[in-house]
Amino acid sequence: MPDRRTTLRALGLGLLATCGPGGWFRHARAQSITDRSAFSTPLQIPPLDSGNLADATRHYQLALQRGSREFLPGIRTATLGINGDYLGPTLLMQRGEQVAVAVHNQLDEASSLHWHGFHVPAREDGGPNQQIESGATWNPSFRVMQNGGTFWYHSHVLHRAGEQVYRGLAGMILVQDPDQSELGLPTDYGIDDIPLIVQDRRFGDDGSFSYMSIYDDIVKGMHGDTLLVNGTWQPLFQPTTRLVRFRLLNAANARTFLFAFSDNREFYQIASDGGLLEAALPMNRLELAPAERAEILVDFSDGREVLLQSLPMPSGFPVFQGAMSRIMRSLNAQAFDVLRIIPAANLSGNLLLPNRLVSIARLSADQQMPVRQFRLSMGFGSRSGDDRGPGTGARTGLGGGHGGGHSVINGRRMEIGYINETIPLNSTEIWELSNNSPMPHPFHVHHGQFQVLDRNGQPPPANELGWKDTVRVGSGETVRIVMRFEDFADASNPYMYHCHILEHEDQGMMGQFLVV
Ligand code: C2O
Ligand code: CU
Ligand code: CU
Repeated sequence: MPDRRTTLRALGLGLLATCGPGGWFRHARAQSITDRSAFSTPLQIPPLDSGNLADATRHYQLALQRGSREFLPGIRTATLGINGDYLGPTLLMQRGEQVAVAVHNQLDEASSLHWHGFHVPAREDGGPNQQIESGATWNPSFRVMQNGGTFWYHSHVLHRAGEQVYRGLAGMILVQDPDQSELGLPTDYGIDDIPLIVQDRRFGDDGSFSYMSIYDDIVKGMHGDTLLVNGTWQPLFQPTTRLVRFRLLNAANARTFLFAFSDNREFYQIASDGGLLEAALPMNRLELAPAERAEILVDFSDGREVLLQSLPMPSGFPVFQGAMSRIMRSLNAQAFDVLRIIPAANLSGNLLLPNRLVSIARLSADQQMPVRQFRLSMGFGSRSGDDRGPGTGARTGLGGGHGGGHSVINGRRMEIGYINETIPLNSTEIWELSNNSPMPHPFHVHHGQFQVLDRNGQPPPANELGWKDTVRVGSGETVRIVMRFEDFADASNPYMYHCHILEHEDQGMMGQFLVV
């Protein structure tokens, strides 16, 4: 036992030398931007829903419904929710178990519910092809084949996913893995294992969520100036243990967060989108694009109050006259206080952690693997974002600045009847994602988890070496991912790939593929 485990601090010292400062230290520290004493509302923890076990299947009942919530004191906001007013329960699932869900759509509009990050048959996936009409019930069923980790579910209805998620149709899925129970990681939900569903919102004067109310929203996706964590505005969390595991989910429609603590303390990333990393990775900055998840461990044994923040990310976009430069330079430039943390007086538990969490077999590129190209672009003005090659288009200001941007992949907008790609079952493919638009796009693939091979020909940072289902592709970047297409051949039901900026997705920055 003693030789397999180490304390968190010893681990940090050991690993820091090897991973080096790299890009983690390039950003300034944020000042506390609000009066921190304003952060006094206890962080809401979404209820845990373990379903009901019957006939060797775990059954969940989910109702999509309208509601309202007092996010800001004294003002009610109209919302959507799942089994509640806003967001949904955290679904607890066990690896290997069979799951059956009854999703009842009580809304007066069509919807859908997608299991983001799950490896399930396409017809159970909850994408735009599994639309649930108003009043209808959808009954997907699948085996939980995922590694233990943090996943989520959200509306994926065609052209309206952005608005439905914005109003509240999303929740977390926590997959437990029997193989990981011996690791000694914090697993006490709501006590030392804490979901943090981070979202930015914009409120109108009447307290309503204002959605797509300015031109910028069309171009860069819906950004807000007010943060909610698990639906709580200005939340306070009081740890009772030395070591806390936060499950960070960027559930924003479009905003990328750069998480850090106000005292610049080190923390340890232990999991990425698809589950545990090989070992805990010390860092003091963590960037998460929309739909990305990270589990982090934080040491509160010093008993000090601290803020979790999101730091501003300086834009490298050139300054020129007109809306486009202003919009692009404002992207992710805002700092936020996310969560105020005040440890309890007597903390329990220890800081022990295994040297190694899991082993991950790296998929390596080989000459025989098919390579598929996905070119991400945005058109401005009357021209579509059709391929004009790198270095042309929006970045040079060609195409004007008004009229609405079409964000596209390979020059095409998603069409419900059109299959963009057909992939033979049991193949391993390299997907080359290139971005000639002026802003980053988080690229997401349904069907399962992939690995990042390289970024612009360079090995990815250490926290992108685990399983991923969403990867940031920065402006001008080329990212290569490798993915194995196993199980669930189906010649008629496609999976999706898309930008996870939901307004881009809704505009058609999405495609469909069959596994046959
Ligand atoms: Cu999180 Cu296709 O979605
Ligand atoms: Cu997904
Ligand atoms: Cu995008």
